[in-house]
Parts: sequence; C-alpha cells; structure tokens
Amino acid sequence: MTKRRIIIDTDPGLDDALAILLALASPELEVLGLTTVAGNVPLAGTAANALRLCELGRRTDIPVFAGCDRPLRRKPTTTLRHGETGLDGANLPPPAMALREGHAVTWLIDRVMGAAPATITLCALAPLTNVATALAEEPRLAKRLAGIVIMGGAGDGGGNVTPEAEFNIHVDPHAAEIVFASGADLTLVPLDLSRQVLVNEARIARIRAIGSNVARAAAGMLEYYNSKAELAAGSPLHDPCVIAHLLDPTLFSGPVVNVAVEVADGPRLGVTAIDWDGRSGRPANARILNAADPDRFFDLLIARLASISDGI
Ligand code: BDR
Ligand code: CA
Repeated sequence: MTKRRIIIDTDPGLDDALAILLALASPELEVLGLTTVAGNVPLAGTAANALRLCELGRRTDIPVFAGCDRPLRRKPTTTLRHGETGLDGANLPPPAMALREGHAVTWLIDRVMGAAPATITLCALAPLTNVATALAEEPRLAKRLAGIVIMGGAGDGGGNVTPEAEFNIHVDPHAAEIVFASGADLTLVPLDLSRQVLVNEARIARIRAIGSNVARAAAGMLEYYNSKAELAAGSPLHDPCVIAHLLDPTLFSGPVVNVAVEVADGPRLGVTAIDWDGRSGRPANARILNAADPDRFFDLLIARLASISDGI
C-alpha cells in the first residue's frame, strides 16, 4: 500500500489528541512529524503533550518539533476547554521522549521542499502561525505540498469564541489570511462540519469498552471534553475530522468556494467569510467540508483506536 505522507501541525488539546491517535493508528498514513504551536495552551504545554501522545501511541520514532510561541500580531490567547494541562482526563505521565532540536517552521520547510512535489499533506489542527510563517519564509511551499487540510473557521452556525469566530482562526487571523491567500490546495473543516460529529456518552462507552491503555486514555480525555459539552447533544470532535477526511473522503463533502478572514480589530475579528454561492466574485480558494456522516466517522475512529495494541 502506498501510504499518504502527512505532517501534523497541532496544539494538543483533547481533540488534537484524538486526531493524532487516529493518524498513528492508520496504516494508510505515514506521519512524518508533529509540529507544535501555541494554541489551546502555551507552546511548552502543546509540545509536551505531543510527546506524551507519541509515547501513548508507542511511536517514539516520530519527530516532534516546537514552533511559534505566539501569534503573528495578536497577544497569545489560550482556552480552558481542554483543562489546565491541555490533556486533562488523559492521566499521562510527563514525557520521557525529547523534542527534536530546531524550530518547527525550519523543519517543515526543509522536509517539504526536500521531498518530491505534491507528496506531503499538511494537517493543520491549530492556529495557523507555524503554517503562515513557513509560507511567508518559503512561498514555494504552497505548491510543493499536496495540500493543507485545516480545522478552522465557521460559516452559518456561528463561532465558538465570539458570536461569529472560531478559535483557531480567531487566535491568529493574520496567519489565516496568509494561508488563505497562499495558493495552496486548501480544504477546510469548519465548525459547520464538526458540530455534526458529536462526542456523547454512548460513543465514549464504545471506546472505553476496547479495554486498552490507549482506549482508557482516549475515553478519559473525551469524558473531560464532554463534561464541558458545547451543545446539548455533545461536544464537536473538531480535529479528528481532518484525519478522517484523508482516510475516507466519502465521510464528508462540501463545495469549493472563496473564504476570506476578517483581520480588522473589532467584534468581527477572525470571522471567516465563506462565499457559499459565489456572490463576492472572489476566486475560489478552498474546499469547505460542511456535510458529515457522523456514524461512519465514529465507526472508523473506534475501529482504529482498537487497533493500537498495548504491546502486552
Ligand atoms: C479548534 O480549537 C481548539 O480548541 C480545538 O483543538 C480545535 O482545533 C476548534 O475551534
Ligand atoms: Ca487543535
């Protein structure tokens, strides 16, 4: 099987954790490395959490790099959505594994530019600071990548940090602006999609029933995540949608449209203007996934988590 090669840019984060575990458990994917960025918690926390997750997934061979510790222009903002540690509920020890030397952005540029064209897909699960910094330093990166699949943005259903803005874009809208204008092949997982993919008690029980260390940690994380359920029916499992889309493109669908981001200070900062019906006249720059098959998504996630052995 030819594996799809991916790099995951991430700020773990409970839903990032599930996305990383899903990727590590999937034989169709070769995870070349994890690049970490300030987001859900400060950079030191997201980097340590990425290391913890590699250890949990028994993949200490995967290089993990620390990247940008603050957004391009705005002050850093974090969230308590994932607890103080960013991985509350997982009960994982401090990592024994070390970060690789060097800046995540330097590694990302070198790794992609050193590979054959269009052979590496970037999965962006966090504020886009690392991604935009890399694109600004090396604009050829945009076309060298096979594509960038981004969790970020909100369309019709409203935001999750302001009435209209989604967290990843709101934390660093200036970075998002660079990425949306880069010319890279972009796919967006906005809140419109992830709000259809809800963690609930029945789904957590299926994961816990797997019985492995990985499943126990995953169920613990999802229980914490769901204790702060954003919707009556459960919590949207945002970031794993990016990985699931690569594993099975029939799970989600949506149109190719123009998306622009509001960067002016004020109540609309970080809002993604998604031009669903082409009225703006702006050229299309992204596929926006907005229709999901949640039951098949959870079947896939749970089957893959069950495939990670504890090695005992
Ligand atoms: C996004 O924000 C973060 O809190 C999550 O990890 C996800 O990437 C959802 O708005
Ligand atoms: Ca994230």
